[in-house]
Amino acid sequence: MALLQFGDEGARRIERVYATPDVVRQREQVLELLQPAVGEEILDVGSGPGFLLRSIAEAVGPAGSARGLEPSAAMNAMAQARCADVAWVGLDEGNAEALPYSAASFDAVVSTQVYEYVADVLGALVEVRRVLRPGGRVVVLDTDWDSVVWHATDRERHRRVMAAWEEHLVDARLPRTLPGLLERAGFRVVERRLIPVFNPVYDEDTYSAGTIDTIGAFVTGRHGLTDDDVARWAADLRSRGTDYLFSLNRYCFVATATGEPP
Ligand SMILES: C[S@@+](CC[C@H](N)C(=O)[O-])C[C@H]1O[C@@H](n2cnc3c(N)ncnc32)[C@H](O)[C@@H]1O
Repeated sequence: MALLQFGDEGARRIERVYATPDVVRQREQVLELLQPAVGEEILDVGSGPGFLLRSIAEAVGPAGSARGLEPSAAMNAMAQARCADVAWVGLDEGNAEALPYSAASFDAVVSTQVYEYVADVLGALVEVRRVLRPGGRVVVLDTDWDSVVWHATDRERHRRVMAAWEEHLVDARLPRTLPGLLERAGFRVVERRLIPVFNPVYDEDTYSAGTIDTIGAFVTGRHGLTDDDVARWAADLRSRGTDYLFSLNRYCFVATATGEPP
């Protein structure tokens, strides 16, 4: 089954959602954990629309560099536009499983909401270990999709929608195994943080409201869900008023490169 595609339309939807205050707050926390310092060379794996890349570039300044790696040309075009005035940002087209960089090229690597789409996560983390300098650090954030609470009237229809949505990625529960995978890849996990998204009222400018269309487009035709099923599911959530409730958990791990790469 095809994973979520980040073509022109998909990338634009993600960009809109990633500009909401929910995701702005998430990026602030990731930056707090990453602690990009002036002069550092930092890689963002799966840099997407480039919001985090731009913030990293502003933190490291012209004495450093912020490099984004991304397989989607549509995403890279957005990141390019977002960072056009920052000469020390570089963007490459490529895959997390085979980083196109020499060993010991970066002081830090960050990757948010990416490894859940990657087939060989251990191999991809070994790649991160390879391109990090001794003592370098990695910050990884992913979602556990079992953590979603969403107030839908028809719970059976909602269960089908969410089951179909799980097919948009490779591992819907990656945070459970990430610390162990990091250790096996030659890292020591030094910090773990829960970063929840909480939308207690319906508001267009939130992560959950913005994600309804992305989920709807993906699940239509899967698990027997018709256009009508999906339209009703979306209309129900949008009409909950004061009964609206959404929450989801993201998990962020900070790890340092220890000893020799495996
Ligand atoms: C949900 S978006 C997150 C984008 C960005 N990291 C952020 O948090 O704003 C997932 C991104 O991962 C990228 N991606 C998917 N599979 C990948 C892979 N195998 N290697 C690198 N990036 C990948 C997608 O193209 C997309 O840009």
